[in-house]
Order: sequence, then structure tokens, then C-alpha cells
Amino acid sequence: MTGRPRGMVTRGTTNPNRLRRVDGWIAATCARPLREAADPLVVDLGYGATPVTTVELRARLAAVRPDVRVVGLEIDPVRVSGAAAAADPPWLEFRRGGFELAGLRPVVVRALNVLRQYDEAAVGPAWAAMAGALAPDGLLVEGTCDELGRLASWVAVGADGPRSLTLSARLRHLDRPATLAERLPKALIHHNVPGTGVAGLLDALDRGWQAAAPYSTFGPRQRWLRAVAAVAAAGWPVLDRPARWRLGELTVAWSAVSPPPRDPGSIHVVRTT
Ligand SMILES: C[S@@+](CC[C@H](N)C(=O)[O-])C[C@H]1O[C@@H](n2cnc3c(N)ncnc32)[C@H](O)[C@@H]1O
Repeated sequence: MTGRPRGMVTRGTTNPNRLRRVDGWIAATCARPLREAADPLVVDLGYGATPVTTVELRARLAAVRPDVRVVGLEIDPVRVSGAAAAADPPWLEFRRGGFELAGLRPVVVRALNVLRQYDEAAVGPAWAAMAGALAPDGLLVEGTCDELGRLASWVAVGADGPRSLTLSARLRHLDRPATLAERLPKALIHHNVPGTGVAGLLDALDRGWQAAAPYSTFGPRQRWLRAVAAVAAAGWPVLDRPARWRLGELTVAWSAVSPPPRDPGSIHVVRTT
């Protein structure tokens, strides 16, 4: 027994294929720990009014490891009952649970568009609860996206605390990188003001995008590649390689964007289990 699920019921908005960008990143970034895990268990926390994105997550990660097990956790019992018809045990299950992860010990937790409806002060404790329940070498991926999944961002949090921020955009629809500001993770969205790391990063990316305007002739991907290269050249700790940039991504070390120390987004995760 793990007691009462931690958290609160929020709006259940979701959409098919909305989380494809983060799923692609998880499949690439977490491939090694997933393949090496004794129990390849993944939790999708807060799947919403329908379990469609959990079903998609299981299908995408099965390409990495066919015996991956995905458990969708929801704090709303009505949504748990509603998802039962989509279950395919043991590969895909739906249960009631919250930030404590219902006693599970997954290799990966995806929690998208969940913390957006909480106060910022809830972020640190939620990260600590989820990251503290991870299997060794596990990763929590927590973030936000727009309704159709064209703009997204997420934080990778390990048992040692937050590690990276990823910005991701469908380049064909991207006006300018600054629009990603609307879809920053809860830990950062209120810190996008002049002088902060995240504001500096978005500004550097936006300026790189403007400077690379002539490359639009060759398509938005070429323009994004140049913009990200400019961000790296300016000294930002870019963690990923051009192969990911080509997908409209940019991943930087969390240290470059971490909010001031007294804020919850800067806390260090302490293993609790
Ligand atoms: C906006 S929906 C997100 C659905 C889906 N993840 C997506 O991105 O399309 C947020 C869902 O998270 C659930 N939720 C909020 N806090 C939770 C918690 N602590 N544990 C489990 N589910 C939670 C809400 O009940 C809601 O159904």
C-alpha cells in the first residue's frame, strides 16, 4: 500500500500524437537504460481524459525494447476506469496513482502537461517524489507542450536532480524560437524575464534564428541548425548533437537555465525510497 495518491485532479486535455516530440527524445535518450533494465518499466503520469498518448508511448518504446511495460497513472479514478478498455496487460496497464508513483520503480517517467496547472512551489516536491522513486539510472521527463505538440519543452531529472532542458519545435510552423516561451516547463515559465538564464537562452536562439534568415531558402531545418550552432558558439552548454538539432531540438545543461537557488526549480532531488 502506498496510501493516498499525491497531487490533485486537473483538466484532462489531451490529443492524439501530441507528445510525439518528447517520445522521440525519450526513445533516443533512454534507449540504453531501457535495454539494460532488468524490468523495463515506464510510467506515464497524468495521461488525461483519454489514454491515447500512453498507448502511443508504449508503441514507440516497443521499437526500443519489445518487452517494455508501460503503466499509465492517473489521479482521477474516473479516468482510470475509462482507460481500462485500452489496457493490454502486462504491456500496457492503467492504475490510480500520483507523484509517489503508486509504489512503482520505473526506468522512465513521462509527466507531460501535468505540473502546468499547479503552483510553481509544487514543482520541487513533485520532482523529488517522482525522481526519488526511479529505478537506478532512471529518468523523469517533465514538461509542457501546446495542444497539437508543435511547441514543447521538458526537463530531464535524475535521482541527482535536474540535468537538462530541451526545447523542441515543429520547424515548418515556427515563427520564431521566442514563441517557445509560452510552453516552458512550470519550473521556468515564470522566470523568463531579462537577466535570467532561460531568457538569455531564448534570446540567443532567437538572435541566431534572425541571423540565419538567409538559410530559409534551404528550408527551416537549415535555418534552425545554424541558429543552434550560433547558440553553441556563444558558449551555451549545448548537450546534444546536430542529429537532434535537425529534428528541431536543442538540449542544454540545466545549470545554464536553473532559477535562483531559493526557487523550487533549483532544488536537489533526495532519494526517498
Ligand atoms: C492536461 S492532462 C495531460 C494529459 C497528457 N499527459 C497530455 O499531455 O496530453 C493532465 C492530467 O494529469 C492528471 N494529474 C494531475 N496531477 C496528477 C498527479 N499528481 N498524479 C497523477 N495524475 C495527475 C490530471 O488529472 C489530468 O488528467
